[in-house]
Amino acid sequence: MKALVLSGGKGTRLRPITHTSAKQLVPIANKPILFYGLEAIAEAGIKEVGVIVGDTADEIRSALKDGSRWGINITYIQQEAPLGLAHAVKIARDFLKDDDFVMYLGDNLIKDGLKEQIAQFVKNKPNAQILLAKVPHPENFGVAVLKDSKVINLEEKPKQPKSDLALVGVYMFDKNIHTAVNSIKPSDRGELEITDAIQYLIDNNYTVSPHIVQGWWKDTGKLDDMLEANRLILDTILTDTRGTVDSASNIEGKVVIEKGAKVVNSSIRGPAIIGENAEIINSYIGPFTSIYFNVKIENSEIEHSIVLENSTIKDIKRIGDSLIGQNVQISHTEKKPAAYRIMVGDSSKLEII
Ligand code: G1P
Repeated sequence: MKALVLSGGKGTRLRPITHTSAKQLVPIANKPILFYGLEAIAEAGIKEVGVIVGDTADEIRSALKDGSRWGINITYIQQEAPLGLAHAVKIARDFLKDDDFVMYLGDNLIKDGLKEQIAQFVKNKPNAQILLAKVPHPENFGVAVLKDSKVINLEEKPKQPKSDLALVGVYMFDKNIHTAVNSIKPSDRGELEITDAIQYLIDNNYTVSPHIVQGWWKDTGKLDDMLEANRLILDTILTDTRGTVDSASNIEGKVVIEKGAKVVNSSIRGPAIIGENAEIINSYIGPFTSIYFNVKIENSEIEHSIVLENSTIKDIKRIGDSLIGQNVQISHTEKKPAAYRIMVGDSSKLEII
């Protein structure tokens, strides 16, 4: 069994963060999203992993390298343009050969890992196995209809969904998927959809089995989903202090303070994580906040947010529900005229009080 991990795509729903970096490398609880997927793949015993890369290939390569830190062997496969998930399978043909494989969308997070699902696929030997989860807004996903525990219909982002079962971004296939991806036409959005390829399997009497995901699952393509994924992961952390906390500071609940981090005269209410060499001075860090490495927060309050590396927040009353990019500087000013002075990137979103 091999794995095919998709780490291309443009991440349009996460701009401006994705103007400069890959959406799959945004950290959730201070670990890039993609690492969670690779850990799950390694834990399931898979060694050969193909990683589809696009415009952000260099960044993905330098983060993952040869995969040896997970005990896997990575082959990079370049996708010239984001032409769809089924297109990714097409260009991975030489890597996949006729082997069974699990396809994993790099921005997905699944609490339960992959072991159980893969064991079920290996035992029952369907031609494809899809993971499904009940969601409140199925119109944003591929949607499946089941009958007698079999998948009978799939539609990609239908306006009027026929069920509330969304396709999770994890799929298992045998070699017949190659016939399917070569038989379908691009969708209205111009992509070769894996959803259509699986529908081809159904229409041609191949077996497509469902596996309903029991634990939580998140597609982290949007800000709210990312903050929710951050909440879900932070909920599972255990207190660990490797940095320094002075006696004037107060730490409550589960809080990780990484190596070299300094907490001075501050209050941290977990679950929260403070990254390597970060400095928290005269500040309050509230629940569900991830502060990445080399961040400096001074005389400020922040909660339910993610702050990426090398950013500085100074003299700000309160920040909440936010994703702050790399190398950002936010500060208070008494300069006249009193005005918001901002230099903010394309497609940014600011809500100001
Ligand atoms: C893709 C698939 C969709 C699936 C989703 C899961 O959508 O096309 O069927 O439900 O991933 O994350 P995308 O997020 O690429 O729009």
